[in-house]
Formats: sequence, structure tokens, C-alpha cells
Amino acid sequence: MSFTHFPVMLKESISLLDVRDGKTYVDCTLGRAGHSSAILHLIPHGQLIAFDSDIEALNESKPKLAQIGDNFTLIHSNFAYLAGELASRGITKVDGIFADLGVSSPQFDDPARGFSYREDAPLDMRMDQSQSLTAAKLVNEASLADLTKIFRDYGEEKDAYPIAKAIVKARGKAPVQTTFQLVEIIKKVKSPKELSKKGHPAKQAFQALRIAVNHEEEALEKLLEVGPSLLNPGGVLAIISFMSLDDRLVKNRFKELCIEEGSRHLPSLLEKKQFELLTRKPITASPEELAENRRSLPAKLRAIRKKEENP
Ligand SMILES: C[S@@+](CC[C@H](N)C(=O)[O-])C[C@H]1O[C@@H](n2cnc3c(N)ncnc32)[C@H](O)[C@@H]1O
Repeated sequence: MSFTHFPVMLKESISLLDVRDGKTYVDCTLGRAGHSSAILHLIPHGQLIAFDSDIEALNESKPKLAQIGDNFTLIHSNFAYLAGELASRGITKVDGIFADLGVSSPQFDDPARGFSYREDAPLDMRMDQSQSLTAAKLVNEASLADLTKIFRDYGEEKDAYPIAKAIVKARGKAPVQTTFQLVEIIKKVKSPKELSKKGHPAKQAFQALRIAVNHEEEALEKLLEVGPSLLNPGGVLAIISFMSLDDRLVKNRFKELCIEEGSRHLPSLLEKKQFELLTRKPITASPEELAENRRSLPAKLRAIRKKEENP
């Protein structure tokens, strides 16, 4: 199956990362190597380490990167394990870490992966197809309270409880196994007014399940916790998020790492921060990019840099 692929805010990301030859960069979300290829082109004497939890992403990207150079390492792992995976390869510090969160177009557009509410397929939604938790397992086994929480917290779905209740009722008769079965359950819960609104009525619930199945929030929290400590002085952490949930986590953590807060009366107590904010406001896709790729519309790019040590 062939898919079109469009790396989001490529120029902006590479420019923020300040990619320099001889240095070491990590791409936490290889995908189809859009950003990784651009980085590798710029570092013939450096090193690229790229993660993806989806083995297909690694298999598809490897030959593409091999055409550029051999100075790269692909790691089939969740980026939540970034620090340990790097340490096991003798790497304790890097010069740039990049993440382009969420699912890739090839994952979303392949009906068999079960991410899309527009195609009928088994309820799967796993990025890592070797993991045992699928969307079907969650939908058929999670408690009413857990399902409600997932839809509310990860989907910001206002009908979280009625949807969870309808799922529990439906699965009492027969397991909910396909995307279209779930879409039907959700549609029945929604009022005619909700159904007439722009946007698919199952969009938020599907997003919520995907986040839960892939433990996306936990992975991002881990990256935000350990990523900064892995940077050399001058090193950059840049993250593209597509959901307000993710962007909020990134924004708040970056603020915590960069904004110096001290007492007006005792300025000597000002805590000196090790990082500086490179994006006071998030960068969004240019009109030219949006004309080519509407999927870039919700994307927000934020970055921080570890300050150079004082001489
Ligand atoms: C939006 S795509 C990245 C596209 C890529 N920047 C490109 O230009 O080709 C996100 C990719 O990251 C992977 N991914 C998402 N969350 C991950 C995680 N926590 N650990 C490892 N890979 C992850 C997905 O499997 C997907 O392939």
C-alpha cells in the first residue's frame, strides 16, 4: 500500500533544532523519516538516533535513510524509554531531541490499523502491533468508570458518560469488535443537534481510545521529564503536538523549565534556570504548507534550549 507523506513544519523544526554536523540528534517519532531525513542530510559526520513504536515505520524508513548515510540507529521502542535505550548504547547526552507526536498519515490512512472512524475495520489502534492491549480489549473490558474517564480526559468528550454507558450496554449483548460498530453506538448517544455539527461525531471518542491504547500521555510526560536532562549545553528539545491536551503539557513543562520567578523584594533569590524558551508563542504551519497539507492545521511547535554553561 502506498501513502503520501508530508512532514509537518519541516523547515521550522530543523531551523529550531539548529542542526550542526558532528553532533548527535534524536528523533523520537521516526514515522516515514521526513524530519529524520532532513537531519541526516545535515550531519554527514554526526549521529542520528530515531525511535518508533511501529515496526512498519522502521522498515519503511530504513532504506530511505540508508540512501543518505549509514550514521543512524533505529530503535523499535516507545520514546518513554529514551534515557535507558540511549544509556544502553553508551550515550548519556545529545545535542537535539525532536518529537512529532501522534499517529502518522500512513497509520491513520491504513484501514486495517483501526484508527479511523471513516473505515470499517477491527478496533485495533495500536501503534506497536506487538503490544497486547487493543482498542477492542479496552472497549470490551474496561469498567464504566474507566471508559468514562478515558473519553472525558483524553477526548474532552462532553458525552463521555452516556457513550461509556452505551458501550457497556452493547457489549452485554455481543462484543464490540469493529470501528463502525463503535461509531453506531456513539451516533445513537448524540443528539440531532450534535450530529448536525461540523466534524465527525466519533472523532473525540476515537482520539481518546487511541491515546489510552498507546499510553500517549504517559510517554509524553516521561519525555518532558527526562528529555531536558539528556541535552548538552546548547542542545534543543523541540516538540510538535496536534492536540490541546499535549500542547498544554509541553507548554507548562517548558514554562517550568525556563521562566525565572523570583521575589520582587529579594531579587537575589531569583532561581536561575538552565533552559531558555525558543518559542514564546507556538509556531504554526505557514499558509503555503496548509495549502498543501490540511493535516498541519492543528500542529503547534514549541522548543527550549539548554543554556551554554557560564565561562
Ligand atoms: C506524526 S508521526 C511522525 C512523522 C515523522 N516526523 C515524519 O515526518 O515522517 C508519529 C510517529 O511516531 C510514532 N510514535 C508516536 N508515539 C510514540 C511513542 N510514544 N514512542 C515511539 N513512537 C511513537 C508513531 O508510530 C508514528 O510513526
